[in-house]
Amino acid sequence: GLCPAHPRSGSRMSMCPGTSVLAAAPSVLQQHRQVHHAVIPHGKSGRSSVSGIVATVFGATGFLGRYVVNRLGRIGSQVIIPYRCDQYDLMYLRPMGDLGQLLFLEWDCKDKDSIRRAVEHSNVVINLVGKEWETKNFSFEDEFVNIPKSIAQITREAGVETLIHISHLNASMKSPSKYLRSKAVGEKAVREEFPDAIILKPSEMFGREDQFLNHYANMRWFGGVPLISLGKKTVKQPVYVVDVAKAIINAIKDPDAKGKTYALAGPNRYLLYDMVEYIYAVAFRTFLPYPLPRPLYHLVARFFEISPFEPWLTRDKVDRFHTTDMTFPDLPGFEDLGIQPTPLEQKSIEVLRRHRRYRWLDTELEEARPPKTYPV
Ligand SMILES: NC(=O)c1ccc[n+]([C@@H]2O[C@H](COP(=O)([O-])OP(=O)(O)OC[C@H]3O[C@@H](n4cnc5c(N)ncnc54)[C@H](OP(=O)(O)O)[C@@H]3O)[C@@H](O)[C@H]2O)c1
Repeated sequence: GLCPAHPRSGSRMSMCPGTSVLAAAPSVLQQHRQVHHAVIPHGKSGRSSVSGIVATVFGATGFLGRYVVNRLGRIGSQVIIPYRCDQYDLMYLRPMGDLGQLLFLEWDCKDKDSIRRAVEHSNVVINLVGKEWETKNFSFEDEFVNIPKSIAQITREAGVETLIHISHLNASMKSPSKYLRSKAVGEKAVREEFPDAIILKPSEMFGREDQFLNHYANMRWFGGVPLISLGKKTVKQPVYVVDVAKAIINAIKDPDAKGKTYALAGPNRYLLYDMVEYIYAVAFRTFLPYPLPRPLYHLVARFFEISPFEPWLTRDKVDRFHTTDMTFPDLPGFEDLGIQPTPLEQKSIEVLRRHRRYRWLDTELEEARPPKTYPV
């Protein structure tokens, strides 16, 4: 294939000038693959240096993807971005790396050759593929088991050293949510195909484009916030999306991370009720919670599911959001990756300011009463 380090020169990997370095630095390059100069770190670690990371990011066009690509780009990595969307929909990613360092290519998750093409020159593969709802083309099994399995298998066959797979904190075979059950199966499948994979299990992520705080804030359009048992039986420990992106970068750099599973949750736990109350306090909107039994909630969600548009709510999402976040005292977490997780109270304004009326737009965050927290 073409050398990704010199895409515009049209030089093939075997003729690429970077490959001559192979003979000079055999200890750095223990791969049985042809190597290009982008995997040899040099420079002062800025955007125009070479971090030595050549990463393929599957699912880069999603919520977490933009933070990951940005952090890879700013340290001078080469990022291969397989995409399936219209190319105008990924324009915002283009300035995140130095000129020519972000390489876009179309892929089809069911075409193994396209996956192979995307990973063959990389030394890191990151899988962020996911979907909150099933479509007629892709079930949760496809999204969270089959695609990760294909990626893991091809990544191993291609001799890539590092695979990072994003699962979910509450992934469990016992979960009422099919999303979370599939995530649990996916974790196992990835481990089997690629035993050294780094699996990250974030809880529900919040950030500017999230479907979590925004989701609850948008419920005001429906007159109030329905919560199963008024949200007093569910405990949440949301995590800041930027922290998860940082964790991915640090896991790439940490040689001890290989083969480990990390549980990534925020520093505080909240009752779902308290958290949603806080969301409305920060947004300066009237909080009108009411209890809704699960079957009725599912009925409402069904109504959204049959709409021809992207479903704003699904039965699966109802179950997932009302699942208490698990704790994993035995698994490593943010601290082991050298990250201090950010509390919700510090960044919620970033997400929720847009939900305020003009009158409250500039009001300081301190005026909203912080939510009650529970010990982790
Ligand atoms: N958001 C959370 O709170 C949260 C919490 C825990 C774990 N996670 C997991 O973290 C990962 C990233 O989450 P996210 O919120 O960034 O997800 P997201 O915004 O929904 O993005 C998902 C990405 O996957 C791509 N994708 C989905 N299905 C695909 C398919 N069949 N073929 C090709 N590409 C496909 C999407 O491409 P298009 O843009 O073309 O659709 C998009 O780039 C997911 O695995 C998710 O399950 C998320």
